[in-house]
Amino acid sequence: MSLDLRRYLDCAATTPVAPEVQAEIHRVERQAWANPSSLHSFGLAAAEQLERSRDQIAGLLGCSGQVVFTSGGSESIHLALLGIGGGITDQRGVPPRLLISAVEHPASEAAAQQLQRLGWTVERIPVDRRGLIDLGALGSLLTRPTQLVSLIWGQSEVGALQPIQEIGALCRSAGVLLHVDAVQVAAQRPIAFDALPIDLMSVASHKLSGPRGVGALLVRDGVPLQPIQAGGGQERGLRSGTEPVALIAGFAAALERLHALRFRGEPDPVQGVRNRLLAALLEVPGLQLTGPDPRLDPGLRLANHISLIVHSSDGRPLPGRAMVRALARLDVAISSGSACSSSRSAASPVLEALGFAARDCGSGIRLSLGDWHTDADLQDVPEALRRAMTAVAAA
Ligand SMILES: Cc1ncc(COP(=O)(O)O)c(C=O)c1O
Repeated sequence: MSLDLRRYLDCAATTPVAPEVQAEIHRVERQAWANPSSLHSFGLAAAEQLERSRDQIAGLLGCSGQVVFTSGGSESIHLALLGIGGGITDQRGVPPRLLISAVEHPASEAAAQQLQRLGWTVERIPVDRRGLIDLGALGSLLTRPTQLVSLIWGQSEVGALQPIQEIGALCRSAGVLLHVDAVQVAAQRPIAFDALPIDLMSVASHKLSGPRGVGALLVRDGVPLQPIQAGGGQERGLRSGTEPVALIAGFAAALERLHALRFRGEPDPVQGVRNRLLAALLEVPGLQLTGPDPRLDPGLRLANHISLIVHSSDGRPLPGRAMVRALARLDVAISSGSACSSSRSAASPVLEALGFAARDCGSGIRLSLGDWHTDADLQDVPEALRRAMTAVAAA
């Protein structure tokens, strides 16, 4: 099997660790491998390294509050929802309420359901055809007993970017805490946490050319977060467990690299490559864009993201998973929506929430670019899709 990164178009699922990040992980594994809670000089070296990485990540994400290290996006989301929710009980017999959107990642859905089992009610805010939440519906529910809002900022399957500034302002004026799942966004645009009306934010290293197995929850000072995992009391008691110092250093190095490569204030090169690939793909009969159209408003879509529905030349919806397999045979790696849902039923709940007809909801595919891709790397991709469509339609 070819492992040519030029043909890897699944960066919303995960990204390869960049060489300079690998070098940093190896350096720290050699020089600061000890338990950072140990009091001897080995431990102190690890603790110093850990705090350097924490400061670096806090600085790059513009966070003066707490950076709590976790194992990744799913754990950060659980810590945010259950760490806030577990401490709030009903108010004079009225259960507290959580608002999420109809297009959350399964990790947020699962954490919300866990809160429901603890006595909370959960309301899902509907989205429009592009995947953008209904701000009117959100506003009308920001009254008692709503205590917490949790929203996906950059939707992994259809690329929609929620207007987080406006959403945060609404939550602030209602006095309701806001958690944001920024797992995709943090890889695609700079984030200045302190400047945003957000109380908690989840991020993961493996979407931005860092290692898998590490992420963080950013917590604004004064937010009443409780631990959901007890033990040695690491991370100021909020997340027990020995910190993976080398992975955390890799996470910091990956963010540093991203800022140097893409977030310098110039037009993002990835967005340009994505736009040209999208234009070429939309010339292929049978391919239809889902989510916001970046040609109309680039600010509404993740910069590296393309999502499509696939039909045969005679108008039949083609199964997204069959397309993924057919493209894999042509050495092109894509996904049929969110990687995490690939083992579940073929119909996408996200496409359903956007209002697509039931027959089309199993026909979504996603192409998500890396920062190494050039136009030349991708010039054969539309033809590969044509061939895959012909093969799947004939099967
Ligand atoms: C938007 C979003 N949230 C959460 C997650 C879960 O992150 P992790 O895989 O690091 O647990 C993902 C991963 O695909 C994601 O895309």
